[in-house]
Amino acid sequence: MLIKGKNYRTIWMEGNTIQTIEQNKLPEEFEIISIDTLEDVAKSISTMIVRGAPAIGAMGAFGLAQAIQKMAAPNKQEIQNVRDFLFQTRPTAYDLQHGLDFVMAKTLSESDPHTMKQIAMESAQAYVDASAEACRKIGEYGNSLINDGDKLLTHCNAGALATVDYGTALAPMRLAHKNGKNIFIFVDETRPRLQGAKLTAFELHEEGIPYAVIADNAAGFYMARGEVDMMITGTDRVAANGDVANKIGTYEKAVVAHENGIPVYIAAPISTIDFTCPTGNDIPIEERNQNEVLDVDGHRVAHEGSTALNPAFDVTPAKYITGIITEQGIYNPGELDKIIHK
Ligand code: MRU
Repeated sequence: MLIKGKNYRTIWMEGNTIQTIEQNKLPEEFEIISIDTLEDVAKSISTMIVRGAPAIGAMGAFGLAQAIQKMAAPNKQEIQNVRDFLFQTRPTAYDLQHGLDFVMAKTLSESDPHTMKQIAMESAQAYVDASAEACRKIGEYGNSLINDGDKLLTHCNAGALATVDYGTALAPMRLAHKNGKNIFIFVDETRPRLQGAKLTAFELHEEGIPYAVIADNAAGFYMARGEVDMMITGTDRVAANGDVANKIGTYEKAVVAHENGIPVYIAAPISTIDFTCPTGNDIPIEERNQNEVLDVDGHRVAHEGSTALNPAFDVTPAKYITGIITEQGIYNPGELDKIIHK
């Protein structure tokens, strides 16, 4: 992704140190932080220094590989313990499990400690590179859906910051813009954590893509007026039946889009599809701290003594989804069994 004219990934390794962009400080400050301990890897995920399903998967893969380097003689139990510790940091995004299990399986296919450490690092890097490449391809498939002059709606941040690079929902928009299509993006601000206003707006601004931030409550207004041609979001977990969990508020946007005849596309690498999860009802939904709702940007706005409820994700039933854009092509949510996966 371009930031101040320079190309960055969201997360990368330098030696045995993980480098990532501190997303809680954007857009005011652009800070790259170094992560050297298992505790800091876990904290970076749970406090959302790094967030977005594929980006969390990348952090899990690198975090496990980093921890394996520090083991005197890596063994199954020790690796499993680290995997389980990192796995519990955020429950909804399936990519985290995918990234952790990929590195664990590759590492455990060896028995020599030195080779295990080497394979852990190589497999984490391979996982992260493949994740970026998947998003690049999502961009190509998704771009084929976008016409010159289209106005698109997105929710939360499913951009490069939420992935290793390119983004999921934002990858097609990036490519469409690069190819000279005149597009405009409605960016839902995405309360409570404002990933739309802070992160998606930041990315679109850096890439020079025309956009406007809208209050979450305004999306229906623009859809009803016929101003939105297509809705594209990312997802944290796709169930086998095509139901999709994504940032809280996605469900109501999809229902309103459906009501107004607006196509709803979900962009996701195959690492986000949980083929073992039958339906959206089986997807674990993260509940976050109520202060995220009671406060806006760290300032208390709710009446003193109020309590709040803070589900971080909701589930959009497959019937509202026009297609799922993956690195293997665009699928009807009812035909995910056609996807080749390991
Ligand atoms: O709570 P977050 O910011 O991690 O939620 C992120 C989202 O909901 C994204 O839409 C999803 O992870 C897909 S990102 C490519």
